[in-house]
Amino acid sequence: MQSYHTSVLKDECFSFVKRFDVRRLVDCNLGEGGHAKYFLENKPDLFITGIDCDAGIMDRAKENLCEQDGRICFLNSWADAALAEMPDESEGCVFFDLGISMYHYKGSDRGFGFSKDERLDMRLCESDFLTAYDVVNGYSEKDLAKIIFEYSDERKSRRIAAKIVEERKKGRICTSKQLAETVRTAFSPFEIRKSGIDVATKTFQAIRIEVNNELGRLKSELDCALRVIGKGGIVMVISFHSLEDRIVKYRFRQAAADGCYEIITKKPLTASDAELESNPASRSAKLRVIRRTI
Ligand SMILES: C[S@@+](CC[C@H](N)C(=O)[O-])C[C@H]1O[C@@H](n2cnc3c(N)ncnc32)[C@H](O)[C@@H]1O
Repeated sequence: MQSYHTSVLKDECFSFVKRFDVRRLVDCNLGEGGHAKYFLENKPDLFITGIDCDAGIMDRAKENLCEQDGRICFLNSWADAALAEMPDESEGCVFFDLGISMYHYKGSDRGFGFSKDERLDMRLCESDFLTAYDVVNGYSEKDLAKIIFEYSDERKSRRIAAKIVEERKKGRICTSKQLAETVRTAFSPFEIRKSGIDVATKTFQAIRIEVNNELGRLKSELDCALRVIGKGGIVMVISFHSLEDRIVKYRFRQAAADGCYEIITKKPLTASDAELESNPASRSAKLRVIRRTI
């Protein structure tokens, strides 16, 4: 099967799985199964519980991992809910590769990006209620500005929120292209030219984070993960933006200060030059690892 997604920091993650001789691993962000496949192929005594909240991508993971039958079990669930059910000290590693997959941008038709004109949805779990359409068309100007600022550090959050509300007066904002075009009107032609990325990118990130409650979930997932690993076990987290990384950094520091854990990565690991060249999407990835000592 051809995957949409290229897994990041695969070798770096696997080096910890090997070094700490992990036998049972929970992959909280299975996606199409890129990391899981690599770990299973390279460590024959490893068993994985693969979790993903998106049923569509999980079908792809099952196809991708069909040869590993018996060494992986699949759980279509939000990771915070799944981890909450797991017994204390039952796993050797809990692994996170946060955010969304290239599949979501390129193959899901749910409006995560704006290169195609898609319905505004952005739900990772399609049985949940809140959609990007609800946020964009239903939130007050103040609330829109707040989430855009808090979840993307976008300096123009107030102006963007005002533009969205202005556009809404003409009719509902239904598609990703319509939203991207509305956001761009908050920027001058000079700002648009000067920006290294599309100026709508940050707003899309913020709305996605709101729809899926990504940061709230991350906090409870980390609490559960630290409880679920046994002595000698590790929690590994790959994050992709500073909001996520900050949460991981402080939760790990707090755990280490409590005395039962040691931080393995004093500084987060990032992609090598070779990986950056072959997969530019790895540029913002940061890997942090903590280990339970008692
Ligand atoms: C970056 S992708 C994972 C890619 C995967 N590691 C690979 O190598 O193919 C993140 C995945 O996590 C899922 N996801 C995001 N937040 C989640 C959460 N809180 N619980 C469960 N799954 C989540 C998304 O649906 C997506 O498939």
